[in-house]
Amino acid sequence: MAKSDKKSAVKALPAKGLPIDIGISAAHREAIAKGLNTLLADTFTLYLTTHNFHWNVTGPMFNTLHNMFMEQYTELWNAVDPIAERIRSLGHVAPGSYAEFGKLATVPDAPAKPPKALEMVRVLVEGHEAVARTARSLFPLADKASDEPTADLLTQRLTVHEQTAWMLRSLLEE
Ligand SMILES: [Fe+2]
Repeated sequence: MAKSDKKSAVKALPAKGLPIDIGISAAHREAIAKGLNTLLADTFTLYLTTHNFHWNVTGPMFNTLHNMFMEQYTELWNAVDPIAERIRSLGHVAPGSYAEFGKLATVPDAPAKPPKALEMVRVLVEGHEAVARTARSLFPLADKASDEPTADLLTQRLTVHEQTAWMLRSLLEE
């Protein structure tokens, strides 16, 4: 094939770039991305609350909780990126502002005044359970669309949130 023929076989790119054709319908991609927006907002909100508690915890359990919260906020911080990038892979814009997160999150914002140490633990148990419920509620959508990467991401997030909720809950038992 002559060089000029090769060139002509390359199609011109549409102005808006290539349309997405990964085998998931546009409606399914939109519904899953919408659900992941909530998961992203929940994860970010819980990250910030956990970091806040790392800074503001007081009392005889200071060292344990200060260090435990650091491990937990680091994990949550690392988790927001794959969630946002899955939204992008599905062809949608990832939310990334406090205003948007405030509207989307099911997890409440951190309390204005730092609570006592064990109350912090209780707030975080409820936060991890709320994020687990958000992640779990997305499985039927991902299954219906055969969206294995999203299902895999949800499985990973559920494992972490349920395990962290258990560990924190154990601190509240006698
Ligand atoms: Fe620190």
